[in-house]
Order: sequence, then structure tokens, then C-alpha cells
Amino acid sequence: LSVNASQGSTRKMPENLFGVSFEEINHAGAGGLWGELVSNRGFESGGRHSPSIIDPWSTIGNYSLIRVSTELSSCFNINPVALKMEVLCDTNGVNACPVGGVGIHNPGYWGMNIEGGKTYKLVVYILALNPINVTVSLTDSTGGQTLATVNIIENDVSNWKKIEVALEAKMTNHNSRLQLTTNRKGVIWFDQVSLMPIDTYKGHGYRNDLYKMVADLKPGFIRFPGGSYVEGNYLRNAYWWKDTVGPWEERPGHFNDIWSYWTDDGLGYFEFLQLAEDLGASPIWVLNSGFSHQEAVDPTKITPFVQDALDAIEFARGDPDSNWGSVRAKMGHIEPFNLKHVAIGNQDCQMGHYRANYLKFYTAIKKDYPDVKVISNCDGSNTQLDHPADMYDYHVYVNAKTMFSMANKFDSTSRIGPKVFVSEYAVVNDGGSGNLLAALAEAGFLIGIEKNSDIVDMASNAPLFVNVNNKAFMPDAIVFDSYRAYGTPSYWMQRFFSMSNGATLLDSTLQSNSSGSLMASSIWFQNPTNKNNYLRVKVVNFGGNQVNLKIAIEGLDPGLIDYYRSSKTVLSSTSVMDENSFQNPTKVSMVQSKLRKRRNDIFVVLPPN
Ligand code: AHR
Repeated sequence: LSVNASQGSTRKMPENLFGVSFEEINHAGAGGLWGELVSNRGFESGGRHSPSIIDPWSTIGNYSLIRVSTELSSCFNINPVALKMEVLCDTNGVNACPVGGVGIHNPGYWGMNIEGGKTYKLVVYILALNPINVTVSLTDSTGGQTLATVNIIENDVSNWKKIEVALEAKMTNHNSRLQLTTNRKGVIWFDQVSLMPIDTYKGHGYRNDLYKMVADLKPGFIRFPGGSYVEGNYLRNAYWWKDTVGPWEERPGHFNDIWSYWTDDGLGYFEFLQLAEDLGASPIWVLNSGFSHQEAVDPTKITPFVQDALDAIEFARGDPDSNWGSVRAKMGHIEPFNLKHVAIGNQDCQMGHYRANYLKFYTAIKKDYPDVKVISNCDGSNTQLDHPADMYDYHVYVNAKTMFSMANKFDSTSRIGPKVFVSEYAVVNDGGSGNLLAALAEAGFLIGIEKNSDIVDMASNAPLFVNVNNKAFMPDAIVFDSYRAYGTPSYWMQRFFSMSNGATLLDSTLQSNSSGSLMASSIWFQNPTNKNNYLRVKVVNFGGNQVNLKIAIEGLDPGLIDYYRSSKTVLSSTSVMDENSFQNPTKVSMVQSKLRKRRNDIFVVLPPN
């Protein structure tokens, strides 16, 4: 491999080249990155009507002691369902409640992770005609062992009252539940029950370990909130940003009918923008362009949707005294967010009148926000787009061999016209639940993207997250349960590209008799921590044979290279079908060692795969 480091044969790559694509899929947010531990906190998931089912809430105590039902008696008009709990037993006497009382419990999303020594904030809205004595406790999954407990004693809750308590856990249990119990006869209504760990990233609500895994990728952008999630099967179940901002208690939540689960929208539009800011990544907001998987809004009726998009941009960027900027400011973010990219729809180009709808969005956004980059859903990689756009969205889900061969996909794409945003790429079919084969093929594809980064501006793998209890779409980059997380080989592969954003691409040429299965690129970057300059050569050996590689660096004084501090990092495994797991989370992960040098050349052995 000849690497030419001399000036003149280099090109700076885009600052946001590699990022992440977040979709509310596989419980990525609700029961994932978002720290809320209660599932169905407002009792609305069964529908905004009564009777409604309250799953996964259940009762403690049999029907002769306790009855629960739903009522449209909430203090929140937008989410009217509240839970009515009738306690038939009493503190003592013949009708005494069992030890521990009766009540309700919530297991969260397949068990709550409660950690000893940590504090959890419970918020609950309560109404009762008589004084109450309710015990809030965090217990194991059966209620047998108590990890934390606090009593709520109130003499007058005859009007709905917001009550907050802190629970300090004395033990750890990754499969815990929340209980609200009493041994006092009477009727109590509960609504909007939230339990959040105090310890979330910056107190912003993101689960620390999952946040860190994303941050370690050093994403240049974060695309949100989907994916098909943006469209919904039906428009009434699509993602409407206005329903996801403001006080969490007043968010209606919605049924994610594409991936079949309820979300309380605690991780709403504001929290996505905050997440982007915390990650130092550009937010890329995907809006609904008037299409669900079953419906299409006619261009003559799209104006309210366009206004909704303008309102969203004003929410993100407007002055704190503007109509929607003031809502953001009230939520605690006075300064505008740095929203510069808006994608008009998701995979909607083939929908009948996409172009007509698109143009309405494009024209209105460009008029009010000329600096916002507008992203079309139509593929311009083979033929020029027939409509104005700053970028176009490109999705690719193929098998490993095809993905590796697609390293050249953008070689002949026209350099005139909009830039490419590969917002979803992944190996499927032979990628298992995330194996080394998929990671190698995707690495080849990304090397191709580095080389074509004069026309490809951004790229992200998808989906980002999967909760093991809801594997709706696989493979994914990060796998988690209530308390653990690991990266698939594809995740670790993406870490190799974490320094590519804004780096300098060098010319590199491979000479090999197995070049069909090798891909390589070379970059210069400055490490932001120690300010040293690094030359990083990435090579993928997609084949099953060992390759002895000599790397010759031209155009650079060899004396300037500190070989002592240079290293080699390998992502491989015994079998190309190997995957990581909770039992063996780093079976396929990066292994670092010293670099071998002979005279001015570097020699590396590339194991098979
Ligand atoms: O990434 C998973 C899904 O794949 C997305 O929701 C959709 O855009 C694509 O078809």
C-alpha cells in the first residue's frame, strides 16, 4: 500500500461525515436511551378511552381486596385516562389488608434496573377523597425483597396533587419493579407516574452507559426520530413533534404503529435536539412529508404540514420571545439549537406526489431559513434529481458481498448537484444478529465513502439500538437490556472511523493479487486531546486468506514519525460469523498492539477476515 502524504494529493473530508441515525425502533428510546423506568406512566397506552387496558401495570392483592379501573378523570385534558384504585380492606379488624398492603405495580420495560446507593425520583399525581397513606417501594420482580421505600402521607388530596419523592436504593436488582401500596380502605386515583434515576447524562435524562457508547463513536450528526417511525402506518400514529414538547405530563404519548409499541414521548423533539448538542453532533430532523405507509396527503392539503415544519424550525432556532422559540426557552434552553438540516420524509420518493409535497416544504423552508440544508428522499446517485435539494437521502440494506462491492457505488456519481446523505446502511440477511462478516463488508463500504467524500457528505449505519426484549429489526449497532450493553462488530468497526470527520484524506494505492478483497484508505487527523497529528491507515481484508502488507509512506520525512508510539488495531475473530453477546461482549472487538517497522516501511499481517 503506497500512501502519498505530500501536499497536493490530499483532501479535507466533511466535518459531519460519519454520524448516527436514531430511530424509535426496538425500544431504542422508550425502555432504552431514555431513562424513564415506568412503562405506560399515564395509563394511556390502551387508548384514550375508558375502559382501557393498563398493561404492564398489575394489581397486588386479589379482587376481594382491591379493584382497579380506568376513568377519564385526569387533571390533564390531553391525556385524560387516570387509574382508579378501590381498596376494600383496611388497616385492622376482620377486614384487615394483608401484610405489605394492596396496590399496583409496574415492571418497567422488562424489569427496572435499580442500583444500590443510587437515588431515583418518583413523581405521581394523586387524588383521593380521604387522607392517604401510600407506600412507594422498589422491589425485586416478585415484590418479595424491598430495595427502597418511602411513605406518602397526605391529609388533603381532594384536588389532584403532584407529589415528588426520592428513593434511595440499598441494594441492586436489574429486574425490579415499582409498587404503590396501601392498607387503608378508600378510593385513590393515580396518574402520570414517573420514576427516573437522578444519575442520567448531565441530568438530561439519557441512560449513561448507552449515551457513552454513542458518544464514543464521536458522531458528526444525529438523524432523528426515524426511519419509518416518522411516517407511521397511519398518519394518526406518526411522529408529530408538537405532541412531544412541553411538560412531560402534558405530552399525550402515541402508539408507534410501525414497530408496535407505545411511547410516552419523554424523549421528545426538545430532548433529541439536546442530545445532539450534548454529543457535539449536528441535529438532522426528519419530518413527515404528508405520507404514512397507508395514506398520502394531497399537495393541495399539505399547507398545515408545511406550517408545522416551519414551527418546528422556529422551536429549535427562534428567538426566546418568538411563538415557538418561547416554548423551547420555557423548557430551559434559551439559546437556539443548531438545527441546520431537515429531511423531507423518509423513503417517500416513490409515493405518488412526493415531489409536489416536497417542493412546498422546500420553498417555504428556504424562504424563511435559507441556510437550512433540505434533504430529498429521491436517489440522485445515478441520474440528476429533477427538483432542487441540498442533499438526497440514500438507504442501502444488502448482503455482505454486495455491500463490500458497493465501496465503488459513488465513484461515478455526478459531482454537480446535491450531495449524498447515506442515512441508513447495513448488511442484512447474512449479517446474523451482527457478525464480523457484516462489519467487514460495511467497513469496505465506508472506505469507499471516505474516498467519495467530495460528494458524500454524511453517512450513518441503522438501526443504532436494540433492546434484546424487542428485536424488531436486526442487526443493530448497540445491543442492551435493562442494565447491560455491548457493541456488535459493526459498532466496533464504526469506531475505526471516529476520527475521520474533518480529517484529511490522503491518496493511497493498493498493489495486490488479492485486491478484490482488500480496501484501504489513509487519513491525517489531529487528536483533540493531545494535539498530536496522526496518520491512520485503515485496511479491510474481506477475504479468507492472510495478507502480508507492506505500507510505504511517501512525501513525508520518516524522521517525523514516532514509531515508538505508533500502533496497530485489529478487529477480527476466529470465524467470520462470530458475534458478540452479553456472555462474551468483546469476542469481536478491537485489539491493539505495537507496529512493526523495517527501514522506512511498515509491515503488518492482516489475518483472514
Ligand atoms: O432502519 C430500519 C428501517 O429501515 C427504517 O425505519 C426504514 O427507513 C428502513 O426501511
